[in-house]
Amino acid sequence: MSPSTTLVLLHLLLLVSLASGDFYGGSVSFTPRDRNADGTYMVDFRYRNIDDSCNFASWDCCSGNCGYSVNNERGQIAHSTRERSDQHNQWCETETIQTRKIPSNRPFQMIQSNPGSWFLETKVDLGTRSDTGVANRSPVTATLPRIRVPQNCQRSYNLMAFDPDDDRVRCRYGLARPECDSCNQPLGFYLDQGSCSLQYGNGSMTDVYRFEVVVEDFPKQLITLSYNDGSSSSRAEITTTPSPTTTTEAPTTTTPPPACPIPWIDESPLQTSLSRLPLQFTVQVDLEAPTCDEGVYLPRFVNPTPRHGQRIQAEVNKELEIRVKAEATNSVVDAVIVSGPVSLTNHRTTEGEFVIRWSPTHQHLGQYFPFCFLIEGLSGSRVYQSELRCVLVEVGPRNVRAEVVCDENQMTVEVERSSIPEIDEKHLRLSDSCNTACDLQRYSNSTHIIGVIPLNACGTQIEEDDENLIFKNEITSFDNVSDIITRNNEVDIKFYCEYAKHGKVSLSFNAHRESVSVMEKGFGTFTYHFEFYQTSEFTQMVDPHDYPIDVEVDKMIYMEIRATSTAISAELFVESCRAAPFDTPNYSPTYHIIENGCTVDRTVRIFPPLNEKSFRFGMEAFKFIGVYDHVYISCSVILCEAGNPNTRCAQGCSSNDHESDDSHQRHKREAAIQTGKHHISQGPLRLRKNSESSVTNLNKNTVLMAGSIVAAVSMLCGVMFYKLKSSKVKYQPVPTSDFL
Ligand SMILES: *[C@@H]1O[C@H](CO)[C@@H](O)[C@H](O)[C@H]1NC(C)=O
Ligand SMILES: *[C@@H]1O[C@H](CO)[C@@H](O)[C@H](O)[C@H]1NC(C)=O
Ligand SMILES: *[C@@H]1O[C@H](CO)[C@@H](O)[C@H](O)[C@H]1NC(C)=O
Repeated sequence: MSPSTTLVLLHLLLLVSLASGDFYGGSVSFTPRDRNADGTYMVDFRYRNIDDSCNFASWDCCSGNCGYSVNNERGQIAHSTRERSDQHNQWCETETIQTRKIPSNRPFQMIQSNPGSWFLETKVDLGTRSDTGVANRSPVTATLPRIRVPQNCQRSYNLMAFDPDDDRVRCRYGLARPECDSCNQPLGFYLDQGSCSLQYGNGSMTDVYRFEVVVEDFPKQLITLSYNDGSSSSRAEITTTPSPTTTTEAPTTTTPPPACPIPWIDESPLQTSLSRLPLQFTVQVDLEAPTCDEGVYLPRFVNPTPRHGQRIQAEVNKELEIRVKAEATNSVVDAVIVSGPVSLTNHRTTEGEFVIRWSPTHQHLGQYFPFCFLIEGLSGSRVYQSELRCVLVEVGPRNVRAEVVCDENQMTVEVERSSIPEIDEKHLRLSDSCNTACDLQRYSNSTHIIGVIPLNACGTQIEEDDENLIFKNEITSFDNVSDIITRNNEVDIKFYCEYAKHGKVSLSFNAHRESVSVMEKGFGTFTYHFEFYQTSEFTQMVDPHDYPIDVEVDKMIYMEIRATSTAISAELFVESCRAAPFDTPNYSPTYHIIENGCTVDRTVRIFPPLNEKSFRFGMEAFKFIGVYDHVYISCSVILCEAGNPNTRCAQGCSSNDHESDDSHQRHKREAAIQTGKHHISQGPLRLRKNSESSVTNLNKNTVLMAGSIVAAVSMLCGVMFYKLKSSKVKYQPVPTSDFL
């Protein structure tokens, strides 16, 4: 044989072995998501696969309309760690989270398969339930990569089968394809259908046994599922006990079946399950253990390990920790094997505890996640496993304890530190943190993080409806790249104060933005002023009490930005100005007025400045204003050493933004040449409407507010960030051919 032929053959062998890797198990569950505005449905599938080579399966639609995949994320949950000569002990558990868009909520059936090797069949019914009023949800299940039991020891494995709709969950063996591939019911094991527990008696041959279990949910009373095409279907409480599980071995066929072998048919709808999920796993029966007593060879769980079935509450963006510990006198506790959501981690402490950590994100909110684990002990070349325990984690919203006090000029927020123990106020900020007056460290004490927020500063937004003026701000956490602590813990505490416009007590309120004071090394403390003027003479400033400013389309508006700095020779540069309904940086959509020091709006006129630290400009009010209740003008400004040709200020209008790299380097070398970009804003402006009545007109410097000033309305809502952190999981895109 020539060397090239050998190479080709090797490649072929490799391909064959990759395609038909040893399959140890898998499971599927689904979660309906919010319905789309266009009436279509979204559903998340969580598909776990355990095999020897981290393979993934093809998905096929077998009946009904399965829609199509809009997002596929895949990650590795766990893999075998120990180097063993026995290749059969190598395993890899992966999870694929596939989001599918489905035109209707009618039932459908999907199959993941590796034809000739295994099938995972899932029946999905997203019909609206008459008992809950929402889409039907599937049970949640979990299993472990490799369960091992000594031949002579009795064991009971409680398969986690929990139903979020409080349905009755039953587990049975798959009866025929596509519920199962080999459809064996291994001898020596008993599957209790009602409790979903698998019992191992005593005396099976040492071997690896494969279990192809089907998990189904049945309502506890008669319910109706209704569909968006007007049809409906009823389900009754299960009455007929399914035929008892026998321990006969079904014959195995050798011909590889087609991908979708049997279309799913609903023979007797009233007695069929709501959903049908696959739960497949293997149990390895090992040689006899010297004793089956726990804590000798078989590790025994000790404190603080949670008990089987325990319910654990988790919060969005807060790291969950589960501690697991086991002891054995005659074996060495070696590893924990965990099955749970893909982004979990596990570490061993020096005290011998295993710490399983997981940070749920917003996409997990309201869902249930089983975590199953067991501990392995080593004695010579033998591996002994503890019992299997599973806990159920329910993800709820972040619960931040805080209070808001609203009074006439400010909002006071007091956040209990103990409710966000992992976050320091150094990593928290208000919408606009540029102003030194908005520093959260200023009023905080050892028990509370306290913010005193003026109604007209620190990025406070105004919203208005017919009855109320609403002032909104938020405290958010921010990362500073080198800091790992806040990575898995994010808070976004939104709060607002609401004031009735009509009330007994009158109160003056000022929307005008205060000047912004900034502290920067080399430039000391300086203040930016941003004001509107009546005319191009810039002699008459718009009275701060006249905000919001009513403008008419096409009429000129005049603005001045000015810095007051102790640095004698400083010059001001306006890098960009934008208009937006909010004055938080990076808000979109925005209307561009100046970009990179160049004027973008064609009506902009630059006027001679008062001095080097002043910038005066005017423009025609634009239609953009009328689209929103209020519009702010926000600018990004820089102070530079006057006369230095190497500064951003000296470059003027320059479309290629040298600022970022240049100033960065310069900052390191010579900190005092120019400051960083500062964000300042003024407003709001609103479009004057001719027909507007004075009742809702804010252009009165007196606004009527609610009865008691002292005890005004206080409200708070803890909301979370939607960012999916990528620090832990390495998702890889799955080739498009794997999408349906
Ligand atoms: C296991 O099987 C052996 C032999 O069949 C029997 O003597 C023993 O009592 C059984 N043990 C248990 C716990 O059932
Ligand atoms: C911190 O401030 C809060 C709110 O003003 C107060 O209730 C608390 O007692 C203060 N704690 C300490 C230790 O001073
Ligand atoms: C990050 O935080 C640490 C300590 O809180 C601080 O020393 C460091 O300068 C910060 N890094 C950046 C880039 O802000």
